[in-house]
Amino acid sequence: MSKLWGGRFTKDTNELVEEFTASIEFDQQLAIEDIEGSLAHVQMLGECNIISSEDADVIQRGLYKLKNKIELGGIEYSVANEDIHMNIEKHLIDEIGPIGGKLHTGRSRNDQVATDMHLFLKRKTVELISLVDDVQQAILNQAKANVETILPGYTHLQRAQPISFGHHLMAYFWMLERDKERLIDSMKRIDVLPLGAGALAGTTFSINRERVAELLGFDSIYPNSIDAVSDRDFILEFLSISSIMMTHISRLSEEMVIWSSEEFNFIELDDSFCTGSSIMPQKKNPDVPELLRAKTGRTYGNLIGLLTVLKGLPLAYNKDMQEDKEGMFDTVKTVEGTLKLLAPMIDSMTVNHNSMKKAVTEDYSNATDLADYLVTKGMPFREAHAVIGQIVLQAIQEKKYLLDIEYAVYRGYSDLFEEDLYDVLKPENVVAARDSTGGTAQKQVRKQIELAETKILKKKETV
Ligand code: ARG
Repeated sequence: MSKLWGGRFTKDTNELVEEFTASIEFDQQLAIEDIEGSLAHVQMLGECNIISSEDADVIQRGLYKLKNKIELGGIEYSVANEDIHMNIEKHLIDEIGPIGGKLHTGRSRNDQVATDMHLFLKRKTVELISLVDDVQQAILNQAKANVETILPGYTHLQRAQPISFGHHLMAYFWMLERDKERLIDSMKRIDVLPLGAGALAGTTFSINRERVAELLGFDSIYPNSIDAVSDRDFILEFLSISSIMMTHISRLSEEMVIWSSEEFNFIELDDSFCTGSSIMPQKKNPDVPELLRAKTGRTYGNLIGLLTVLKGLPLAYNKDMQEDKEGMFDTVKTVEGTLKLLAPMIDSMTVNHNSMKKAVTEDYSNATDLADYLVTKGMPFREAHAVIGQIVLQAIQEKKYLLDIEYAVYRGYSDLFEEDLYDVLKPENVVAARDSTGGTAQKQVRKQIELAETKILKKKETV
């Protein structure tokens, strides 16, 4: 019997079972975290005289050696040793002899794997927060350069009211700001140590969990051993935050696809972020935003997958929980890749000011302003809405825009109209007039950008 747990078995494991139950193929990504957790655990065992300090030293040296080997190119993993925890323990014993078998004193793979996952997600969350920051910076740069760029704002994908392009871009800045805040907040729940919970009930050895937390840099420890080995909601939370963030990114990606179409022609993505067609020589396809939009799907899938795995599980550990890993690794990889691409793609896109200007001049998105104009002259809004509606209808029939309609015609509709109505209708004035806090007026957008800049600096200091 070569299994670490083989004592009570009389038969070898069926080969298919071995392969089916093993997680080494994917949990080898936790190798470094697993060794770090073991280093802290064994140090504590030595300090608490649960094993001798000489044995602890030998084990630690063996673990460092293994860590080195892994960092330099890897070690051989075997399915027969099931998962990363037993693979490493086996390698350790091969390296330093039976003393290696003392490492697993007072712990279980159940609290060990939970600790590895916490360590892994903690590291990744810090990295992701900084990547979100980079995307925000790219958005901020483009927004700053485009405060005065005016384009139609849309509702129902119909032209609604002229807006500053900087304002539109900044909407995504704030979405990502909330995503970043969610990631930062989730750290409170990731930064908790499960180790010391044992299989589920604690351990008979007089361990010092606080010391292990200190050695591993955890902020606190799980107060309940059963919860410690059963909790996967720190992963659910990560998958959920990632899904929300990918939803935001998917909406931005969708807009980039639309804007870069010939029909809109509002932006041009840099050649280095597009691909061609194998048959149509003229094509330049926005594959990157398309894929970012699509990859959102797998992050939802990973969230729903784990929610479903966990929903019927009795306490405490169940093998089902091994299924928490691939989805989490996949979402980390997806979000990481997405954010890394997004920042330079936004930075390198070209804004077609002329197309945006043409779009905003050749439409009726200034109609609300004319209604508001009549209101300021004393007409009730509902009445003004009806009058301007009739004027728009006449303009459409005569193939004119509101700025082209003669003064006499306006006067025919209402004697509240005066010559200054033409100023009110100019797109830049339409935008400037929305000067309410958080509105699209150039002045307001500049204020908003100032606020955003302080936020981004503040976050960089705190993270
Ligand atoms: N590979 C396992 C997992 O990822 C480690 C924990 C195994 N624990 C057990 N009691 N079989 O969940």
